Amino acid sequence: MAHVLVIGAGVIGLQTANDLLDNGYKVTVLARHWPGNESIEYTSPWAGAIWHTQALPDQIEVCDWQRQSYKYWMDILENEAEESEKMGIQRVPIVKYSVDERNDPASPRLWFCDLVQDFALIPTSDLPPEGPKSGNSFTTVLINPTRYLTYLLTRAKSLGAEMITATLPESASISNTISAALSHLDRKNAEVVINCTGLGASKLCDEAVFPIRGQTLLVRITPPPPTSRITIWDSDPVTYILPRRITPFSAGPSDATYFIGGTNDTGNWDPEPTPVISQGILERVKKVMVGWTGEDAQIEVLREQVGLRPGRKGGPRVELEDVDVGGKKVKVLHQYGHAGAGYQNSIGSARKALRLVEQALG
Ligand SMILES: Cc1cc2nc3c(=O)[nH]c(=O)nc-3n(C[C@H](O)[C@H](O)[C@H](O)COP(=O)(O)OP(=O)(O)OC[C@H]3O[C@@H](n4cnc5c(N)ncnc54)[C@H](O)[C@@H]3O)c2cc1C
Ligand SMILES: *[C@@H]1O[C@H](CO)[C@@H](O)[C@H](O)[C@H]1NC(C)=O
Ligand SMILES: *[C@@H]1O[C@H](CO)[C@@H](O)[C@H](O)[C@H]1NC(C)=O
Ligand SMILES: *[C@@H]1O[C@H](CO)[C@@H](O)[C@H](O)[C@H]1NC(C)=O
Repeated sequence: MAHVLVIGAGVIGLQTANDLLDNGYKVTVLARHWPGNESIEYTSPWAGAIWHTQALPDQIEVCDWQRQSYKYWMDILENEAEESEKMGIQRVPIVKYSVDERNDPASPRLWFCDLVQDFALIPTSDLPPEGPKSGNSFTTVLINPTRYLTYLLTRAKSLGAEMITATLPESASISNTISAALSHLDRKNAEVVINCTGLGASKLCDEAVFPIRGQTLLVRITPPPPTSRITIWDSDPVTYILPRRITPFSAGPSDATYFIGGTNDTGNWDPEPTPVISQGILERVKKVMVGWTGEDAQIEVLREQVGLRPGRKGGPRVELEDVDVGGKKVKVLHQYGHAGAGYQNSIGSARKALRLVEQALG
């Protein structure tokens, strides 16, 4: 069977590796960072990691990927309890508030209302006193990033994938980068190379790729909110509260820890948390929480963190390119630029990558 070299071990590279392995391909994954690593250059561990589309219906392909991801995870959650526990995915109610006046299921931004379970509009009288103009609720998928990435890595290994830790030159031409990648393989050859390097696809090479900085806080809320739910307010910047357990899953029920945020800061590479931004997040979150937890809830900050979403002008790039490496044509499949939607795009995007690999090998 054909040998595919996947570069990158974020949610995109690892999901793609698993789909290829499930279809009989021989797979090698080469990456600088692996699940468990907390480098700022590795985006996937820093995600909120929920399904909450920001796509609009004219982004036909992205909507389709997100539809596939939602159905895939819900199916596992409903039919394979043990598997979903291993993956670190949960079914959770979500409440989304908007500054948009319109509360109309025909609104384009609600394209997903027939896809998701339990969709409902929130009556104006039930909105928090300050801020939101409309809102909706549904049931969605919450992912624990580190657990999920570790699951994908372990699964790929158990299906026979080989793992190589290496750093490829980022300022070189794509031809030199691919050549460097292939030099790590025993046979110095792969039928297809897949570029899942996230923000690593930028650095002097593809100026269309840029960071969208997201600062977040890991907190404990006391007393704990009465129900475990996700709350998102599409304010500027976006404000969200997600349950996020920090104790090991084996330790039993979750403690009342939450992942709160956030920011959406284009072009900013700063890896260090900024105190004034954390203050702003806490103030916005308190405002959204009133009426849900009461006035007296205490928020204890456990950790401040930053992640850089791999943004790209024109949206994610998932396409084939023939690259000339020392006179030989190598088939490269690009799969980067998933910005703030890498998890919710991953299932559909990896399936497209599989089809393109099949096409490339014709
Ligand atoms: C605060 C925040 C909240 C988010 N919330 C959500 C959410 O709710 N839902 C959602 O769907 N998405 C969310 N995201 C977005 C999501 O995290 C990203 O889209 C996704 O993680 C991108 O994955 P990736 O595999 O493309 O890149 P990465 O995870 O960055 O992986 C890149 C891989 O490529 C490797 N690599 C790169 N360059 C090189 C090189 N030169 N040599 C060798 N290896 C290299 C790296 O080592 C790494 O293994 C959020 C992101 C942030 C920061
Ligand atoms: C994370 O990755 C970096 C870059 O390769 C490496 O130097 C560091 O040792 C890794 N950290 C851990 C904890 O593995
Ligand atoms: C990924 O794509 C970018 C943009 O084309 C390119 O600069 C980079 O070299 C590619 N990396 C790999 C590993 O293919
Ligand atoms: C960030 O802002 C852009 C532009 O306003 C928007 O399209 C995107 O959905 C936002 N992303 C997040 C995660 O808030």
